Amino acid sequence: MYIDILCAVPSLLESPFQHSILKRASDRNLLNVNVIDLRKYGIGKHHQIDDYQYGGGAGMVMMVEPLYNAITDLKKKRTYDHIIYMTPDGQQLDQSRANGLSLAENLLIICGHYKGIDQRIRDHLVTLEISIGDYVLSGGELAAAVLVDAVGRLIPGVLNDESSALFDSYQDDMLAPPIYTRPATFKGWTVPDVLLSGDDAAIASWRDEQAFKHTQRQRPDLLD
Ligand code: ADE
Repeated sequence: MYIDILCAVPSLLESPFQHSILKRASDRNLLNVNVIDLRKYGIGKHHQIDDYQYGGGAGMVMMVEPLYNAITDLKKKRTYDHIIYMTPDGQQLDQSRANGLSLAENLLIICGHYKGIDQRIRDHLVTLEISIGDYVLSGGELAAAVLVDAVGRLIPGVLNDESSALFDSYQDDMLAPPIYTRPATFKGWTVPDVLLSGDDAAIASWRDEQAFKHTQRQRPDLLD
């Protein structure tokens, strides 16, 4: 999968894809993330990318022309399954959306900054608008990093133990059960006996029960 990220502050995205699972994905050529500086397409000698709002109001708006030129240029190289705009008023990202996007071949993610982007880009070029939660970040870069992480780890072949993604929280609308590792006793705090029993069926049924209880306690809305 190719993910191109168009943004105003590329340095914010220097590190997130250089570690752990996403690094392995890129080493295996399963995920190629390419960060593009929108200022490269800025207007005039100052490479301007934002301007005041028509109609007045606080906050600058990212201009239509640099975004249009950048997107047009990028579309010459790749056909995108989606052109995604990260925005707090988009559809909320969840596991099922991440599962769906993990099957894409090429994604373009546009990060807003300042007040956001000119509406005409949203109306004419963007195909999907995604929010990572009901709060406002200073820009879309960190939200894009969250999206790439959630999607990237689900790309077939990225996780070593394929089945491990199946047991993540939110797969099947259920939170994951508690997990433990050695030692079996620490300061008198013990690991549930069943996990040490070697009885696979009993362990599976304990995990199901714990996942259900945990979901009931933390996120009863998921069980509706
Ligand atoms: N940009 C600013 N806030 C955001 C959010 N909550 N989700 C996605 N993009 C954003």
